[in-house]
Amino acid sequence: MDIITANTYDDLSQVAAEILIKKVKQNPNLVIGMATGSTPTKLYEYLIKDYKENRTSYQGITTFNLDEYVGLDKNDSNSYFEYMNRNLFKHINICIENTHIPNGKAEDLEEECRNYEQKLHDKGPIDIQILGLGENGHIGFNEPGTRFDSRTHVVKLTESTRKANARFFKTMEDVPSHAITMGIDSIMNAKEILLLVSGKNKAKAYEQLMNGSFSDTFPASILKKHPCVRIITDNTVLQNSSIIA
Ligand code: F6R
Repeated sequence: MDIITANTYDDLSQVAAEILIKKVKQNPNLVIGMATGSTPTKLYEYLIKDYKENRTSYQGITTFNLDEYVGLDKNDSNSYFEYMNRNLFKHINICIENTHIPNGKAEDLEEECRNYEQKLHDKGPIDIQILGLGENGHIGFNEPGTRFDSRTHVVKLTESTRKANARFFKTMEDVPSHAITMGIDSIMNAKEILLLVSGKNKAKAYEQLMNGSFSDTFPASILKKHPCVRIITDNTVLQNSSIIA
């Protein structure tokens, strides 16, 4: 695993954007695995800024999002569909038909998972997968205990993940109990992985990733087995952990 240490969250986001923009320029048909949540929002801001200034084209780019809440309408402000439109897609020249996000309102969720895997198979592999890190070590919504050989599936969110995400919802009861997520094996199929870790609430998880053992009780530990992982972290994490940069 390659570790890049940035000073601030802003620097981390800028470094991540530079890596992505370079790859988009090198391969106009790049397949990107997208993440949502707080961590990548500034990275997306930098992609938009670059698009406005330099017109880096996303016309031939395909994207696959990691996950989506079950039960939320696409247009719900908390759906990841809406998040991606608001934070990135509507600001760049990506073809919406080349973007993929699981449908959390599908009548048959199991079928939706199978279809998503099929699309990943047909249009993949993902060239570069962006990941955030859950406080409990989850990647995507693969909670502790998820099998390493899992593919896209429906997951019951842990209370700690629901609490961590409650800040986006009016009440705790509004936080969905389930999500569809790409599985750990689906994520590990990406050619390259870019893990972004920022915030003092991630310090413990980062420490465990660096020093802990390989175990399905800490899903991100699987990343140690991937041949091409870059981790970008910043001082908000390092100053609150025992890891020396
Ligand atoms: C989001 C996702 C999650 C988040 C993780 C960290 O699509 O799959 O694994 O990356 O929960 O979330 P933030 O960035 O909000 O701390």
